[in-house]
Amino acid sequence: MTQKTESWGSRVGLILAMAGNAVGLGNFLRFPVQAIQNGGGAFIIPYLVCFLLMGIPLLWIEWATGRFGGSKGHHSTPFILDSMDKRKFWKYIGVFGIFTNLAVAAYYCYLESWTLNYVWNSISGTFRGESAESVSAYFNHYVNAGDAHQHWTSWIADNPAPIIFWIICLLLNTWILSKGLSGGVEKVAKIGMPLLIVFGVFLAIMAVSLRAGQHGAINGGEVGLNFLWTPNFDTIWNPKVWLAAAGQIFFTLSVGMGSIQCYASYVRKKDDIALNAMSAGWMNEFVEVVLGAAIIIPISVGYLGIDKVVEMTQSGGLGLGFRTLPYLFEQWGPTLAVICGVFWFGLLFFAGITSSLAMGTPWMGFMTDEFGWSRQKGAWSFGALVLILGLPTVLFFNQGVFDEYDYWAGTVSLVVFALGETILFAWVFGMTKGWQEINSGGDIRVPSVYKFVIKWVTPLLLLFVFLGALITPQGNDWVNAFNNGWVLDNSSIIKQITNAGLKEQMHAATTAGDTATMDALHDKLLYINIARILLVSVFLGVAWLVYTAYRKRIKEGRFI
Ligand code: ALA
Repeated sequence: MTQKTESWGSRVGLILAMAGNAVGLGNFLRFPVQAIQNGGGAFIIPYLVCFLLMGIPLLWIEWATGRFGGSKGHHSTPFILDSMDKRKFWKYIGVFGIFTNLAVAAYYCYLESWTLNYVWNSISGTFRGESAESVSAYFNHYVNAGDAHQHWTSWIADNPAPIIFWIICLLLNTWILSKGLSGGVEKVAKIGMPLLIVFGVFLAIMAVSLRAGQHGAINGGEVGLNFLWTPNFDTIWNPKVWLAAAGQIFFTLSVGMGSIQCYASYVRKKDDIALNAMSAGWMNEFVEVVLGAAIIIPISVGYLGIDKVVEMTQSGGLGLGFRTLPYLFEQWGPTLAVICGVFWFGLLFFAGITSSLAMGTPWMGFMTDEFGWSRQKGAWSFGALVLILGLPTVLFFNQGVFDEYDYWAGTVSLVVFALGETILFAWVFGMTKGWQEINSGGDIRVPSVYKFVIKWVTPLLLLFVFLGALITPQGNDWVNAFNNGWVLDNSSIIKQITNAGLKEQMHAATTAGDTATMDALHDKLLYINIARILLVSVFLGVAWLVYTAYRKRIKEGRFI
């Protein structure tokens, strides 16, 4: 990514690339499941409030911060943040904006490769005539999950497809990144985003027009939709629902990651960001709230009923999306099964790749700016890092490595970084300059109420989200905790650090003399610790690079 030549080719390309960064697997697999788990209609109100008061402000902050840093020649968060204040520590907060992308890409690309494999299986008719159990077993074997998982060596020997598709996916990402923003990322977004929308609209129409009794369905498509959208205000005051809504907003918009700042740093100083940020953000919301909600849940509820789907969502969206949907498509006859399978997994693939490409750019921008690396070197080194960091998520998926990355890098880091950057933008850089940055060159005037929101509401909401996650009370029962004393839940960050939940399970297994479970849990603890060591090493490694770059800048007199 050569600093002088790298730029966006067109405004449409920029918006589609930014929308592609946001629209991802989270829109189709995570959102519907979060909505179901958090009371269906009750979820959407906190979700929309979080979008308006946290998501949109963060989009403006990140676009403005990125364009500001870019005008000074910085294309990744360490030195973008550094350019906004005299104090030296901000560049180390900026480390999150490279670290998170590397760590999320490490498991995200693996997930992306499953979709590629399932496109292939849909075309080749792997699931034709198979029972629901065998379609589900295919997935378990594919990721080596469930009770019947094998030692990784025999699993690979038996089943090389996951590794092959993963490598293909990494090569594809790396190759596209090596073509640059306008020559690679933007082209993929221009093809991928429209196709994704066409596929999504087709599948949503199929899902919503499903009728009870047709192709073996027990419910019409409207049953699942009603379940999702019937307002239910009972749980609206539960902080758990708010935390889940905030978490979804972070993940889906890709805010708090550092990739938006990187993309925006290639926007010219005089170009609009106020309207562009909104266009990309609202496009993501359309895809999530309209299309994301209208496919997986209506079809699954149509065949399995509400109770079964609620039960299945307890283990996340991957089960429904990969274990169940291919079997349900088969009920629509061979031709539609192929079309819907290719459309569903193709849509997931385009959603995934346009997000993972964005994860590669901060690293490339940093190495180019600071160490003069070529775009190719930046892209291939990103591919190599994701390969090394991602390998444990592939080999030890069942031992929780994937989830560990997702929790620390894909969840906690986002909130920590967003809190830091918001304080810097609104309080240190200051709202007067900040407001000017957001509006300068703007094709819309941002409503002035957002000056207040960015300064007060967004940081307070972020603080609430962070503290809520840090000290989540037992059973997520906040009323009880306030009235009867605070006992931390095992899902709180503090308890997660000490692996309290896992240790409780180990204790129970020891007491019961269940040695098989004990061994499995010991293994899991080992792999979780390895995952943590890897994550911390990446963070420290990037921090060291930032420090080295800083010394280099001083030596070269590059500090203005
Ligand atoms: N924003 C991306 C997603 O929703 C990461 O999957």
